[in-house]
Amino acid sequence: MNKLSVKDLNVKNQPVLVRVDYNVPMEEKDGKMIVTDATRIQETLPTLRLLAERGAKIILAAHLGRPKGKREPSLSLRPVAAKLSELIGRPVAFADDCVGETAEKAAAALKAGDILLLENVRFYSAEEANDPAFAGKLARLAGLYVNDAFGAAHRAHASTEGAPRLIAARGGQCAAGLLMERELQYLGRELENPARPFVVILGGAKVSDKINVIDRLLDKADAILIGGAMAYTFKLAQGRKTGQSLAEPDKQDVARAAMEKARKRGVQFLLPSDEIIATPVDTGKVNKKGKPIMDLQHPRANNDPDVPAEAQGLDIGPETARRYGEVIAGARTLFWNGPMGLFEDARFAAGTNAVARAVAEATERGGAKSIIGGGDSVKALNQAGLGGKVTFMSTGGGASLEFLEGRVLPGVAALTDQSK
Ligand code: 3PG
Ligand code: MG
Repeated sequence: MNKLSVKDLNVKNQPVLVRVDYNVPMEEKDGKMIVTDATRIQETLPTLRLLAERGAKIILAAHLGRPKGKREPSLSLRPVAAKLSELIGRPVAFADDCVGETAEKAAAALKAGDILLLENVRFYSAEEANDPAFAGKLARLAGLYVNDAFGAAHRAHASTEGAPRLIAARGGQCAAGLLMERELQYLGRELENPARPFVVILGGAKVSDKINVIDRLLDKADAILIGGAMAYTFKLAQGRKTGQSLAEPDKQDVARAAMEKARKRGVQFLLPSDEIIATPVDTGKVNKKGKPIMDLQHPRANNDPDVPAEAQGLDIGPETARRYGEVIAGARTLFWNGPMGLFEDARFAAGTNAVARAVAEATERGGAKSIIGGGDSVKALNQAGLGGKVTFMSTGGGASLEFLEGRVLPGVAALTDQSK
């Protein structure tokens, strides 16, 4: 990487503004918000330990949810400070505000090695607007900056882009944290020159979310295995009937183009040959977003190339899981992003779990390098207890996809180049 590393900084007794991605899932329990998955916090510990050992005064900035500029109590980072303290085994101070007197006083009270977490930067709409005055208030807090928030690096916000630009303009150094470096290494360099065969497994709901990633990976991969609702757009493009499955009829042309590119480049492009279907029945109720809640009735296997008119495809079938498993077993490099079906529902989780097991086994026994693109695939691996058995799991969702598309991440671009 051509950016400065946190290891390069001289931080002793210096305040360092560290952007982390603590946008973690939370749940209310007995009137208190608790962190239900601390992976993103855990993954920043190496950077924080390094900074603390070297005597930095650590000021953490983060966002939680999308409060859209309002002080939303359920989106306070206070419970995250408690969780971080528990995980790192030292006190973590908390400031009720991310800028202004409260934040500045709390920062001024830090001694070498101390850690302070600032309140949710998105309590200000100026954060997402990347407002220069607000970025200036953040930048006042420190002369050095570290970005360890890979998951938020695709956002050009004040805490990820504006503040480091201002700190750099004042002559301060802005560096990548250790997690950021690992993310860029695995999603970047390792996939740039993969050991072959390189097998890509892509799932999830929409082709439109992943078409640019598919296009780029088609230049590198030996095989692409498709699952999830996304498969139905490819099937539509092949002239199949997809019933009530979530397909994007207006994306058939891009699906067709991807399959054509695969054929020309000799990339094996596999679609499910069987699936688990169910019949969606309207319950008459709506969810929080106002969408009708469907009861998925009568789950069953379907081997017919067409999905019956009243049915919806919700998982890959056993035959597909077996075929995909064989291709995965032969891989030297694996990249997986997106579940094979509606895995949150146990009735439609078998396909995703089979892929998770196959990826873990190829890593453990076959010595393959396995890189997981974040989001739901990480959730599925953890749910199956296999999280520790792959080479790398990204903490990014949207950021991983944008990075894999070859886009420049504003949070990375704002960091200081190594030569300087
Ligand atoms: C995420 O969880 O995707 C990142 O923290 C970024 O959050 P955002 O999508 O709300 O910008
Ligand atoms: Mg997101």
